[in-house]
Amino acid sequence: MSLQQELGALAVDIAQEAGALARRRREQGVSIAASKSALADIVTEADREVENLIRDRIAAARPGDGFLGEESAADEGSTGITWVVDPIDGTVNYAYGIPSYAVSIAAVSGRPEPRTWQALAGVVHAPALGELFHVVRGEGAWVGGQRLQVNGVLNPAGSLLGTGFGYDPATHAAQLELLGRVMPLARDIRRIGAASLDLAYVAAGRLDGYFERGLHPWDHAAGVLLVEEAGGVAAGAPGGAPTREMTIAGNAELVARLSAIIFADTHEDNATTPAAG
Ligand code: IPD
Ligand code: CA
Repeated sequence: MSLQQELGALAVDIAQEAGALARRRREQGVSIAASKSALADIVTEADREVENLIRDRIAAARPGDGFLGEESAADEGSTGITWVVDPIDGTVNYAYGIPSYAVSIAAVSGRPEPRTWQALAGVVHAPALGELFHVVRGEGAWVGGQRLQVNGVLNPAGSLLGTGFGYDPATHAAQLELLGRVMPLARDIRRIGAASLDLAYVAAGRLDGYFERGLHPWDHAAGVLLVEEAGGVAAGAPGGAPTREMTIAGNAELVARLSAIIFADTHEDNATTPAAG
């Protein structure tokens, strides 16, 4: 077994255990532990408990690997491999009882910085939906036993596009303005509420494309590899990797079209100011 296959298998095992815990806690009732970057940016007790479980399992299986998770302090590690983890992506869905939430786990090599790292393996597991998307670099992206493929052809009716909005109300006007400029490309818009699932759905051809400002590395680490291994492209600014500033995903032609709109010169100020939350 190659290193990335080993990492992928471990990620799947841990995501299944973590997903079962998240689901069990959801059934028992959710308690909000705190607000973070904005009042709407919540963390539940379950987010913390699930992250601790994932962190403990990784440390037991691969001591020395680094860790970058949403809910606890980062650790650079010593092996050159870092685990990038969102214990519950879609926390607001989780808190409201909407089943679109996911455990997202990726193993990356290189510094834990999305501009330069190389993702080796990943999992996006939505326990309440009964779906587990998994990927190993060079071996394709899968949901269960079904291989994923992004939609390769632009639909004449327009593209079904996913997006999201930051938690900070101060970012909403610019994000709505951007959405207005993108709308001519869209047949319709979906706001699923979990970036990792948006990206998994692009990989699966359930969305044609996706764009969002303000994502953190743990929101997109596994999902971006799913898209790439499903034959798609994930980008940030033109020619760059996804960043906090922008994540765009889809087939190459759609990403180029979205990028041209999002980074149009006349709107440079809106496009280059990182969003909070
Ligand atoms: C959020 C979700 C949401 C996206 C936000 C993310 P969280 O992650 O992925 O869809 O719009 O930008 O922060 O807070 O639920 O883990
Ligand atoms: Ca989260």
